[in-house]
Amino acid sequence: MKHKIALLGFGTVGQGLCEILADKKNYLKEKYGFEYDIVAVGDMVYGNVYNPDGLDAAQMLLEAKDKKKFSKDVSKWDNLTLIKKSNATVVCEMTYTDLETGGPAVEHCRAALEAGKHVVTSNKGPAALKYPEMAQLARDKGVQFLIEGTVCSGTPILNLADGPLAGCEITAIRGILNGTTNYMLTEMEKGMAYDEVLKIAQELGYAEADPTGDVEGHDARGKVTILANVVMGASLAVSDVSCKGITGITPADIEKAKKENARWKLIGSIEKKDGKLIASVAPEMVPLAHPLAGVMGATNALTFTTDMLGDVTMVGPGAGRIETGYSILTDLIKIHR
Ligand SMILES: NC(=O)c1ccc[n+]([C@@H]2O[C@H](COP(=O)([O-])OP(=O)(O)OC[C@H]3O[C@@H](n4cnc5c(N)ncnc54)[C@H](OP(=O)(O)O)[C@@H]3O)[C@@H](O)[C@H]2O)c1
Repeated sequence: MKHKIALLGFGTVGQGLCEILADKKNYLKEKYGFEYDIVAVGDMVYGNVYNPDGLDAAQMLLEAKDKKKFSKDVSKWDNLTLIKKSNATVVCEMTYTDLETGGPAVEHCRAALEAGKHVVTSNKGPAALKYPEMAQLARDKGVQFLIEGTVCSGTPILNLADGPLAGCEITAIRGILNGTTNYMLTEMEKGMAYDEVLKIAQELGYAEADPTGDVEGHDARGKVTILANVVMGASLAVSDVSCKGITGITPADIEKAKKENARWKLIGSIEKKDGKLIASVAPEMVPLAHPLAGVMGATNALTFTTDMLGDVTMVGPGAGRIETGYSILTDLIKIHR
């Protein structure tokens, strides 16, 4: 069966995915029997295009690189019409989410699932705000709602818990879920002041112009909510997760950690205690001997505590064009299988 793919959002991740799909077209067919057409793209910057027999990926990538609007197969259909009326069998949601309203990503995912189409997304919004609703809708329609890219980009966290760790009871998940703050803490340990490090993180493209979401821990809190609900079977709202960022960490705190053979990390944590699930984000002094202490720079890492394997730690990238595009590819292959 040939998969008919719609891409919603053709920014960093959408273009990364499009490039991977184009580059690996033959490999995916030979190795996995995975064949596809990208039939629809909806993007605020480049416009909406539709061709039921397949769009020209190379041309779209060139036009996007030149910051030009798409010129071929231009469609008057808006995003929701593209989702409902196109012949797409799977919708990849890679736009953004307003955390107050859930729009536009929640509407995109809901419309696709209601139309009986699989959804794959790297967008935290629908997963953190509406996972139980989306998962139920997918079950009702006999399709899949897959979200690997929402936690640690392409580093296989959710698929690890669902696949290789199946059968283990996971009693705790703890880790570094935000690369920007981990980069900042790494540099602060070398002696740089908070404001100076933040400026460099912004210049390097790690931190947004408004860094609140990262430094106050809100980004990590969304990911903790997803992990609690998807891996630990909870039904937490984002506001159920206590949250403290790194803005209060001082040079004196850094020195204190060094003296105690420890290192500050912004830790997202979900633990089962006395039948209750406790979820939080907060800076912690992690002993140097712990695997998470050795994770430096913009890298992410998570330790699963399990009943049969003890601790299992996964370390890998938490962002990036190809890395996050890959997260979508891995879920597309899962649907194919
Ligand atoms: N980049 C990463 O490394 C990474 C990692 C993990 C997860 N994610 C998540 O993946 C998603 C995509 O990230 P990204 O880095 O690709 O973002 P991006 O570069 O900003 O791309 C998003 C694209 O979607 C467009 N868009 C916004 N609202 C839209 C709408 N209503 N309809 C159609 N298009 C719309 C944007 O246009 P405008 O520019 O006009 O808004 C932009 O072209 C986000 O939810 C992000 O949080 C990204």
